[in-house]
Amino acid sequence: MADSEQYDRMKLLKDFDETKAGVKGLTDAGLFKLPQIFVRPPEELAEELKHDKADQVQVQVPVIDLSGGRRREIVEQVRSAAETWGFFQVVSHGIPQSVCDGMIDGVRRFHEMGVDEKKKYYSRDARESVRYSSNFDLFKSKTASWRDTLSISANLGTHLLDPHQLPAVCRDSTVEYSKHVEKLGNTLLELLSEGLGLKPEMLREMECSKGHRLHCHYYPACPEPQLAIGTTKHSDPGFLTILLQNQLVSALQVFYKDSWIDIQPVQGALVINIGDLLQLVSNGKYRSNEHRVIANGIGPRISVACFLSGPFGNTGKIYGPIQELITQESPAIYKEIVIEDYLMKFLNSGLDSYRALDYYKA
Ligand code: OGA
Ligand code: NI
Repeated sequence: MADSEQYDRMKLLKDFDETKAGVKGLTDAGLFKLPQIFVRPPEELAEELKHDKADQVQVQVPVIDLSGGRRREIVEQVRSAAETWGFFQVVSHGIPQSVCDGMIDGVRRFHEMGVDEKKKYYSRDARESVRYSSNFDLFKSKTASWRDTLSISANLGTHLLDPHQLPAVCRDSTVEYSKHVEKLGNTLLELLSEGLGLKPEMLREMECSKGHRLHCHYYPACPEPQLAIGTTKHSDPGFLTILLQNQLVSALQVFYKDSWIDIQPVQGALVINIGDLLQLVSNGKYRSNEHRVIANGIGPRISVACFLSGPFGNTGKIYGPIQELITQESPAIYKEIVIEDYLMKFLNSGLDSYRALDYYKA
């Protein structure tokens, strides 16, 4: 790309960022053409045509009923999904529907507030516990994603986050959801530990669920969805992600066996996926697969991704492949990492160009 084009893009990105109104601000202005910074490169769009919908394999990620059947069978379903898809959905997960609906409503209220109110939270500083922005990697990615995000670092275990830091419109709903989702996270970590043949407490004792972060996404209806992307392809850096979404229209896709597969939403279900750190500590047994969100003409789509990413702050905590999983036949395939270094590497890169795990092959 010519320098002048680069320069123009930078300026357009800065202008957009300075509005602090996000993608929502663009749709409110009634635009019907997609601004250039959101248009995917021609080679990527051409690639897309090769994966025509009609070709899509009619397969689905497993839907697992957490209250049905014997524990051994549930562990087996979780293990099998984690080793292949890296994704599954859960029903009867124990989070009341009213709590999920409340969380979605709170996120909607936040993103639909006036810009003057919302602006107070606009920040690109990863150390802020509560911050709102459009595209955390705006200045690093090739294409901006059609999405705004409110991110919240909650640490209910040690009460790091004072609820008064949260916007009033979503305060109570977030505190409530956060408590429930942490509990579900621990339940899932137990099942996943057992699936590795370890004691159920193993992953929790390693503090995989010590801190969690809620990324509350808002994807407005997109004027030219075929040219845009909702969230560019990536894998999640943490251990485990629990995703709540408001629409029953599929938008999230996982890259599986060389094609993009729709994750068809199931009423009342949550989508679970394995992150890079769990792939690392399980020594590659569980898979952190790439996924993305396509842009849609119908909106807004609201989703809340809860990342269990281990302890926050300068803990110096080290993670590596779990000793019990290392044998002569299956030696460690990853190195040890210091959690802060690893997460900073992730935060300082463009989502579409980087997989943190690639740096830590043994
Ligand atoms: C993410 C993510 C999916 C979604 O936040 O990492 O993949 O549906 N989100 O918003
Ligand atoms: Ni993700």
